[in-house]
Amino acid sequence: MGSVQLVAITLALLATAIAAHNITEILNEFPEYSLFNSYLSQTKLADEINSRQTLTVLALDNGAMSALAGKKPLSVIKNELEIHVVLDYFDPKKLHQIPDGSTLSTTLYQTTGNAPGNIGFVNITDLQGGKVGFGAAAPGSKLDSSYTKAVKQIPYNISVIQISAPIIVPEIANAPSGSDSNVTALLEKAGCKTFASLLVSSGVIKTYQSAVEKGLTIFAPNDEAFKADGVPDLTKLTNADLVSLLLYHAVPSYTPIGSLKTSKDPISTLATNGAAEYALTTRTAGDSVTLVTGVDSSRVASTVLDATPFAIFTVDSILLPSELFGNSPSPAPAPAPEPVTAPSPAPLAPAPVEAPSPLAASPPAPTTETPEGSPADAPEAQSENSTSPNSAVANAKASALLAVLVTVSAPVISFYLLS
Ligand SMILES: *[C@@H]1O[C@H](CO)[C@@H](O)[C@H](O)[C@H]1NC(C)=O
Ligand SMILES: *[C@@H]1O[C@H](CO)[C@@H](O)[C@H](O)[C@H]1NC(C)=O
Ligand SMILES: *[C@@H]1O[C@H](CO)[C@@H](O)[C@H](O)[C@H]1NC(C)=O
Ligand SMILES: *[C@@H]1O[C@H](CO)[C@@H](O)[C@H](O)[C@H]1NC(C)=O
Ligand SMILES: *[C@@H]1O[C@H](CO)[C@@H](O)[C@H](O)[C@H]1NC(C)=O
Repeated sequence: MGSVQLVAITLALLATAIAAHNITEILNEFPEYSLFNSYLSQTKLADEINSRQTLTVLALDNGAMSALAGKKPLSVIKNELEIHVVLDYFDPKKLHQIPDGSTLSTTLYQTTGNAPGNIGFVNITDLQGGKVGFGAAAPGSKLDSSYTKAVKQIPYNISVIQISAPIIVPEIANAPSGSDSNVTALLEKAGCKTFASLLVSSGVIKTYQSAVEKGLTIFAPNDEAFKADGVPDLTKLTNADLVSLLLYHAVPSYTPIGSLKTSKDPISTLATNGAAEYALTTRTAGDSVTLVTGVDSSRVASTVLDATPFAIFTVDSILLPSELFGNSPSPAPAPAPEPVTAPSPAPLAPAPVEAPSPLAASPPAPTTETPEGSPADAPEAQSENSTSPNSAVANAKASALLAVLVTVSAPVISFYLLS
């Protein structure tokens, strides 16, 4: 009881951090960044930024942004903009107090799993004469961009500053493109052979493929998911029901992790046909997202492809819609509260967007949120130093920890307080 209250209070304190900022709203006040703002929305990076704490957004004015965007595909622009979101808080004062005058700071790009070595870091260097330079992290890169002015600071949650020119990381130019990708081949390679063969044999692959250009997100169960205990016998489904089940595993819009994290309303799937049927809801803990169907739930396990406006994720379980499988069978035991084995993306190694999470064994939940084993009782002191790291690695770890601490969804908290 006492510890429940303590957790509830801790969560309540953290709850104020939810949606503490809205980058779209912040930038809406400044027409000179309207293009940058528009691209943050189009690429859904705005959702990712809103779901995180302790960030610095390196804003580009309309001239610099149109130079960066050119005629590139949105997927490339997204990756380039990810380099402009630093996972640490730098206000103008801190920019001039960088230990040893130079640091490599983690960016959102480093968390995508596409960043070999340290290409997802930026070099921030306090130059002579009060100038602060920004550049790619690779040794010998030029610091071609410099701090221009402060735009908006919400200490220590988000700092928006303008820099003079885009930070160019040459390795990023070749982002994967969605439209020319072979979905079947990608799924097979990602360990989703059973799912891929069902898509092909049922013809649903064609529906998927024709949706790719308008925006599509696939949640592909891996091969283990089809062998798990308690999986319904899919061979007993009628063809029409099998088609519905497969369509239920895709969403007709580009919905990357950040958007899943911030989504509050039920998400329509390709199987949705009017009304609120065949929808999914989400549950978030730190960097981990769980999809909830009403019958079961499944962790989003890894990113196969994130090529705006097309994304493929693997999931640990088959998503069972209540329209086909009725209501919850036997509830699994609640997971034990997990200490701070934080799901932190390794800063130097390519890592999937989602790391193993305390929710991996979460029970099939009804639409009401249930309290999870949350790392809420982690020592606050650790987060303090996320604003003054000694190294880029410490910085990345601290940021990841802080993200774990604060990204607890509001409904979870209100449930806690009521219980
Ligand atoms: C920043 O986030 C904290 C929670 O982490 C919150 O309590 C605070 O109100 C936010 N600060 C501002 C100025 O919004
Ligand atoms: C952020 O602000 C924009 C513009 O005001 C709004 O359209 C959007 O819904 C807001 N996002 C959230 C998560 O509240
Ligand atoms: C940042 O870049 C400058 C110029 O290339 C370089 O001298 C400096 O060592 C770099 N800083 C770090 C921390 O790598
Ligand atoms: C896509 O990949 C699958 C499996 O590797 C292959 O059988 C099929 O021919 C490929 N389709 C195209 C259009 O290349
Ligand atoms: C934070 O870092 C400073 C030096 O950078 C150190 O003196 C202090 O003890 C650290 N605080 C914590 C809570 O680790």
